[in-house]
Amino acid sequence: MSVTRSAVTGVGSYLPEQIVTNADLAKFVDTSDEWIQERTGIKQRHKARDDQPTSDLAVEAARKALTDAGKQAADVDLIIVATTTPDMTFPAVAAIVQRKLGAGVGIAFDVQAVCSGFVYALSVADGFVARGLSKCALVIGAEEMTRLMDWEDRTTCVLFGDGAGAVVLEPREGQGTSQDQGMLGFALRADGTKTDLLYVDGGPGSTGTVGHLRMAGNQVFRHAVVNISEAITAACAASDIQVSDVDWFVPHQANQRIIKGVGDRLGLDEEKVISTVAMHANTSAASIPLALDAAIQDGRIKKGDLVLLEAMGGGLTWGACALRL
Ligand code: ACO
Repeated sequence: MSVTRSAVTGVGSYLPEQIVTNADLAKFVDTSDEWIQERTGIKQRHKARDDQPTSDLAVEAARKALTDAGKQAADVDLIIVATTTPDMTFPAVAAIVQRKLGAGVGIAFDVQAVCSGFVYALSVADGFVARGLSKCALVIGAEEMTRLMDWEDRTTCVLFGDGAGAVVLEPREGQGTSQDQGMLGFALRADGTKTDLLYVDGGPGSTGTVGHLRMAGNQVFRHAVVNISEAITAACAASDIQVSDVDWFVPHQANQRIIKGVGDRLGLDEEKVISTVAMHANTSAASIPLALDAAIQDGRIKKGDLVLLEAMGGGLTWGACALRL
């Protein structure tokens, strides 16, 4: 049976120049490099300049992804940006990216599912591409999480960073099997009863301010390993594959202990797990495409590989996706 799938044909990422090490943070908040590395695996994070909004990071990543796909901005007919740190309350970052790229009139909107945003956005774009509504889609995860930090709260400010990653999706014909190139299956979840575990204490409809990120870290941690594992199992079932078939596991980069916990629970070979949390910290919706790009650039992930993505974040939201590159 012939099916149209959305396939990743280009990948790119961008990190702002400034690097903030754990030692830098320890100069003004009561923490230490040792504590941060032991509890999270994080060594450093990147931080955007004051005059560098989220859309700028997104555009840099998008340009690289387009070049990788051999596409021009004018080819792009759909832009979806997964972000929780838009330049402005509106318009969508995607519309600003469209203008900055010079992409011309098309479809552009943002998806807000915090750290799960990239997986959610991929599933939305997959629908457009697989139904013939888009021939060349840009899906971007772009975040400036450092702007949401309370720099006096050591339980959160050491965990996050800024960055962007992007993929180009194009339609590819397949046989309806897991050997096809492209998106194979998704499992998306949200549980709004757990909003109070991870949220920002501001917004245009409440305080009228941007607010700061608040998190009951150890409770989120407990949910993460169990929930993510279930979503991965469901995404594999939807893709007609076994977890053991997966060549590369590209998890959301929140905490090395969560990544390891999920890997152990599913019996994943550590060698197959991509981890960039040490160098990027948690870049929310940007973390998966940043990690994917890093592993393609260093030659580990190759065309034809079976890749599993997963994420969890505020909402609580979580999800997983299997795709063949
Ligand atoms: N430096 C030094 N000590 C610290 C720091 C710090 N930066 N932060 C907390 N501590 C202290 C605490 O105050 C506490 O001290 P106490 O025992 O005297 O009270 C102690 O360390 C232990 O704190 P815990 O919160 O229990 O530490 P835990 O091992 O759970 O690690 C962490 C905390 C890293 C936040 C972990 O819980 C975690 O990673 N949680 C999940 C985060 C996540 O995945 N979020 C989802 C995505 S984010 C998004 O969607 C935006």
